[in-house]
Amino acid sequence: MRTTLVAAAATAAFSASALAQTAADVSSSQYERYHGLLSMAAYSNDPTTVCAQTFDQAALTSSFPNSTEAPWTLIQQFGPTAMGTQGFSVVIPEMDKVVIVFKGMFGWESTFNDSTVNIGTLLNLGPNCTDCTAHSAATAAYLEAREITNDFELEQYYVNQTGHQFSVTGHGWGGMLAQVAAIDLGWRGLVRWSHSHGAARVFNPPAAALYNSLFGGEAGQRTVANDDPVPTYIPESANYTFTLQGFHITGNGTSNATYGYDYAVCNDASEAECAGTVGGNFTDHLAYYTPIGMCGKPYWGSNTTVEESFQSTASQAFYATATSTFVPPTMAVTTSSTSSSSAASSAVSDSSAGAQTATAVSGANAAASPSAGADHSGAASASVVGGGVFAAVLAAGLALLA
Ligand SMILES: *[C@@H]1O[C@H](CO)[C@@H](O)[C@H](O)[C@H]1NC(C)=O
Ligand SMILES: *[C@@H]1O[C@H](CO)[C@@H](O)[C@H](O)[C@H]1NC(C)=O
Ligand SMILES: *[C@@H]1O[C@H](CO)[C@@H](O)[C@H](O)[C@H]1NC(C)=O
Ligand SMILES: *[C@@H]1O[C@H](CO)[C@@H](O)[C@H](O)[C@H]1NC(C)=O
Ligand SMILES: *[C@@H]1O[C@H](CO)[C@@H](O)[C@H](O)[C@H]1NC(C)=O
Ligand SMILES: *[C@@H]1O[C@H](CO)[C@@H](O)[C@H](O)[C@H]1NC(C)=O
Ligand SMILES: *[C@@H]1O[C@H](CO)[C@@H](O)[C@H](O)[C@H]1NC(C)=O
Ligand SMILES: *[C@@H]1O[C@H](CO)[C@@H](O)[C@H](O)[C@H]1NC(C)=O
Ligand SMILES: *[C@@H]1O[C@H](CO)[C@@H](O)[C@H](O)[C@H]1NC(C)=O
Repeated sequence: MRTTLVAAAATAAFSASALAQTAADVSSSQYERYHGLLSMAAYSNDPTTVCAQTFDQAALTSSFPNSTEAPWTLIQQFGPTAMGTQGFSVVIPEMDKVVIVFKGMFGWESTFNDSTVNIGTLLNLGPNCTDCTAHSAATAAYLEAREITNDFELEQYYVNQTGHQFSVTGHGWGGMLAQVAAIDLGWRGLVRWSHSHGAARVFNPPAAALYNSLFGGEAGQRTVANDDPVPTYIPESANYTFTLQGFHITGNGTSNATYGYDYAVCNDASEAECAGTVGGNFTDHLAYYTPIGMCGKPYWGSNTTVEESFQSTASQAFYATATSTFVPPTMAVTTSSTSSSSAASSAVSDSSAGAQTATAVSGANAAASPSAGADHSGAASASVVGGGVFAAVLAAGLALLA
């Protein structure tokens, strides 16, 4: 049977640090939901305003009655870089966290190809990761953010000053960047939590194994909402597999203004339940706990007005300068796993996901108009890590954007 997030709130383990602060109401599923809200808020130019009603004093006080911190401290907004990377970072005491949030990018799947780069050597991931690879463009796009933030110097400063835990999140393309950020910053012992929403595969199996060892269980949730097709955009192969744990949420948030979704957990990368829906409903990509560009209260769940407006604006911006060449998968890839589906997960699989025709606009996440990158191309190329591989990756990215 499906488990509700309400039930999870009652039973889930607290983080050690939350326990230290005696946060009776903040469960790990609540943390995942908060990361989802922030991922969607990254599409707003003003995350502080859209999040104001969710991360307010009342919410902080209800979880941490004795906290004297501000409920929301925006550290910075960064980007767009040459490749269009954007995001923001924030201190949220109610989450006991400093969070880096990567914004997605409408049309990423036709802007970038699926070539890989060895991140074992590039990010110095140690002796067990010499064969680790990741999506080239996502890696390059992440490294541009690392560069312009001076290796997230400000965020590291706030982690040190506040004692809160460090986490990363993002949606769509932003979720792919968040996973690359997590393996880099997690391996270096900085980041402890990694959440992604509606993200396609980004790592090969050795890289995913390292990631999974760094972010076990609830520390590394990869969430898929309803029949979101975007996680299927990069199929399973020797070069690409999913990270754990998978987290499939179903519903639209309206059944209960606080939670409103059921969920299933996947403990094996091959489980269909958390793999997205081939030919699914692209609109499902545009609501993760809240509609794209929003941050929860008063916008819980999906809102087709908001989602259609976003899609129309973002696709017009994209097609003004680009042509989609992307062909979404039409057949599920058969995986050879012996499956260790969790009980919750296998009980949940149902057949409601009859393949639907993909919406006409070929997919994607969000927003940033690719032309934003072009505006900065000269300056930003100079700021990119000086190695040949990045110069090449970047040049290709710019060529495709042009
Ligand atoms: C808040 O502070 C008061 C007074 O110091 C203390 O009695 C109470 O236990 C604290 N509450 C929490 C949840 O830490
Ligand atoms: C894996 O990636 C490499 C480098 O991008 C490529 O040469 C190879 O064909 C890919 N293999 C598969 C199975 O896609
Ligand atoms: C590499 O993997 C081995 C076997 O899983 C493990 O014992 C060892 O600690 C790992 N080394 C590092 C540096 O993570
Ligand atoms: C912050 O950095 C200082 C200097 O390196 C260190 O002594 C201190 O323990 C750090 N505080 C936290 C909370 O990490
Ligand atoms: C909605 O969730 C809240 C928080 O868990 C719970 O207190 C409330 O009873 C739920 N309402 C409904 C209608 O399920
Ligand atoms: C896709 O999802 C949206 C929002 O849930 C819904 O309004 C729409 O009817 C769905 N489209 C199809 C083809 O099922
Ligand atoms: C959400 O789901 C409920 C129950 O299935 C349905 O009545 C409602 O129309 C849905 N709302 C949206 C915005 O999809
Ligand atoms: C959906 O969004 C529109 C536009 O912001 C708003 O007017 C409407 O009230 C929202 N609907 C719901 C059910 O929240
Ligand atoms: C694929 O993208 C990479 C950079 O991400 C680029 O170096 C390479 O030339 C591209 N390959 C093709 C066939 O476009």
